[in-house]
Amino acid sequence: MQSNLRPESMARITTAELANAFIDEQVAQVRAQVGDKKVLLALSGGVDSSVVAALLIKAIGKQLICVHVNHGLMRKGESEGVIEMFRERMDANLIYVDATDHFLGLLAGVSDPERKRKIIGKEFITVFAEEARKQEGISFLAQGTIYPDILESFKQAEGKKAVKSHHNVGGLPEGMQFELVEPVKLLYKDEVRVVGEALGLPHAMVYRQPFPGPGLGVRCLGAITRDRLHALREADAILREEFDKNGLAGKVWQYFVVVPDIKSVGVKDESRYEGWPAIIRAVNTSDAMSATIEEIPYALLHHITDRITREVEGINRVLYDLTPKPVGTIEWE
Ligand code: XMP
Repeated sequence: MQSNLRPESMARITTAELANAFIDEQVAQVRAQVGDKKVLLALSGGVDSSVVAALLIKAIGKQLICVHVNHGLMRKGESEGVIEMFRERMDANLIYVDATDHFLGLLAGVSDPERKRKIIGKEFITVFAEEARKQEGISFLAQGTIYPDILESFKQAEGKKAVKSHHNVGGLPEGMQFELVEPVKLLYKDEVRVVGEALGLPHAMVYRQPFPGPGLGVRCLGAITRDRLHALREADAILREEFDKNGLAGKVWQYFVVVPDIKSVGVKDESRYEGWPAIIRAVNTSDAMSATIEEIPYALLHHITDRITREVEGINRVLYDLTPKPVGTIEWE
């Protein structure tokens, strides 16, 4: 059994060779821990849960049951990508739960960001637990805990007002007790990525930019409506496509679109056209505590503006957010 703290002698995993040795060791350890029992995993499609899924599929195959809950706040194509990768290509036991209507129903009319976060976080656990109850004979819960999460939990609160309550989806309600399987809990993020590539996960998945647990829910500002959420998802997909094409995807730490609940007057086909603005944010940071703004070439900004305003119903302006953190946080909510 691993302890909770990383031994100082543990080498950093920087090469495929070291990653393969780590994978072999973990596969053996997981098999010894789990035996012929079943393991449940909340698979969001983020780097950590994806790497844990790939590792456990290698170790125990169909004894792993992955549950992907779509809260309706995923980016364009994201849930489909998870299904295609894990169910189609890796032949995993994957349960897909489309809870879009449920989440959007609960969020209707809720404009306070912290309340939105709480609803999304709490409901996520409820929906996941419901699926867990339907499965027979689960003994273990796998989690994509990584070493910084463990270090964080050792830190004392420093007496400053929390800026926002970050929530990461996962976990189960108290009272549902499973033994934990946490195969990457002693790894730093960069090591998790090296292990992910050694397991055969695509580069784009392993080097995916961070995406918050509440997803587009904190980028569709104020009370979420389906039409504005749809516009946000389409505009964000265009931004991501253009960053990919123009070599910025691997260079910029986090980039996304925000759509506030305000309309301005525009003109389209010689008629008055009221629409929302799409706000582009592209930041660089090493620890997310502070962040600087990426300088996007103007020609690219013009091209993105042109595409978003032509292709996305309901958007009639594009703005570029120049605010560093501090004073702005990375997300708008
Ligand atoms: P802020 O907005 O606090 O964001 O400057 C710092 C980083 O954290 C992400 N973020 C979240 N991640 N749940 C998450 O899992 C959340 O509620 C949440 N809020 C912000 C944000 O995307 C950025 O990477």
